[in-house]
Amino acid sequence: MYTSDELLKKVNEALEALTYDRQPMSLYEPIRYVLSLGGKRVRPVLMMLAYNLFREDPERIMTQAIGLETYHNFTLLHDDLMDHADMRRGHETVHKKWNPNQAILSGDTMLLQAFERIEACEVDKVKDVFATFLQTTYEIGEGQQLDVEFETRNDVTEDEYIEMIRLKTSVLLACAVKIGAILAGASVEDQNNLYKFGEQIGLAFQLQDDLLDVYGDPKVFGKNIGGDITSNKKTYMLINAVNRADEAQRKELMGWINAETFDRDEKVKAVTALYDQIGIRQLCEQKMEACYAEAQRYLAQVSVAEDRKAELKAYAAAMMKRQS
Ligand code: IPE
Ligand code: IPE
Ligand code: MG
Ligand code: MG
Ligand code: MG
Repeated sequence: MYTSDELLKKVNEALEALTYDRQPMSLYEPIRYVLSLGGKRVRPVLMMLAYNLFREDPERIMTQAIGLETYHNFTLLHDDLMDHADMRRGHETVHKKWNPNQAILSGDTMLLQAFERIEACEVDKVKDVFATFLQTTYEIGEGQQLDVEFETRNDVTEDEYIEMIRLKTSVLLACAVKIGAILAGASVEDQNNLYKFGEQIGLAFQLQDDLLDVYGDPKVFGKNIGGDITSNKKTYMLINAVNRADEAQRKELMGWINAETFDRDEKVKAVTALYDQIGIRQLCEQKMEACYAEAQRYLAQVSVAEDRKAELKAYAAAMMKRQS
């Protein structure tokens, strides 16, 4: 069995070895750029860790692992354009370094590369793998649509938020471990328990992302802080802050949400101060813990000896403590 660090190293080597033979180079340069900026590589590592529960040769699925990372990076190019985000992985985003059209076109091309790489798996597995991936990509578009629509709605419930992040983020982590299991020839029951595990880890992962968007260190996080507050993203934190605020706090919070013109830094500072008063950080961390505990329950049901699960368990535990 491999450690997650060994798998991460293999994934990064495979990404570095990618060649771009088509023309014009200008379409492919942003792809090379974004993939060279690092990133945690959570999805390919999860796919290989899940495969490695059942089989010893995870290198065999490297093309599919890279395909999933390519897909993830495609979503980032479009997401940063939609979210007006100028920084990612400590560097300028593609639409900022080049222009919006470049982010759209190079992103579209990455989506195609992703399908090409996912599809290039063992023939007897391709139908299941492809169906899983296709369903996931539909759902991510649906989640992103909801995320954008929620910006201008003030009645979003906690349940709606959880379903939105399940769609935009969780299903890709779930898809990663499920495809790993399919390619390893695991039983349908194990595939489904791993999917559920990935889904719960994914919810905790997006809750954490939202938390770091407020409380993270931009140098470590690699993204600008406060973007979610600026654009009125309906996060678990904002929804619960509104629900738990006293009258004066709610008035102030709604004032910021409804303000058409404001100083960005002033808004971020004021909303963060309200979160602190209301104890939102702790609440969000408790919700993450609950998702993580649920994830562990699903992993426990996977029919593999417990010691074989140690690496995947440790990786999931480390994900919960991430600062980037
Ligand atoms: C960012 O994903 C988008 C979310 C779903 C929160 P990651 O946090 O995995 O970003 P990288 O790939 O490590 O940069
Ligand atoms: C990420 O949501 C979801 C997808 C990229 C599909 P965010 O918008 O919170 O991700 P970051 O914070 O920009 O990485
Ligand atoms: Mg974003
Ligand atoms: Mg977004
Ligand atoms: Mg975010």
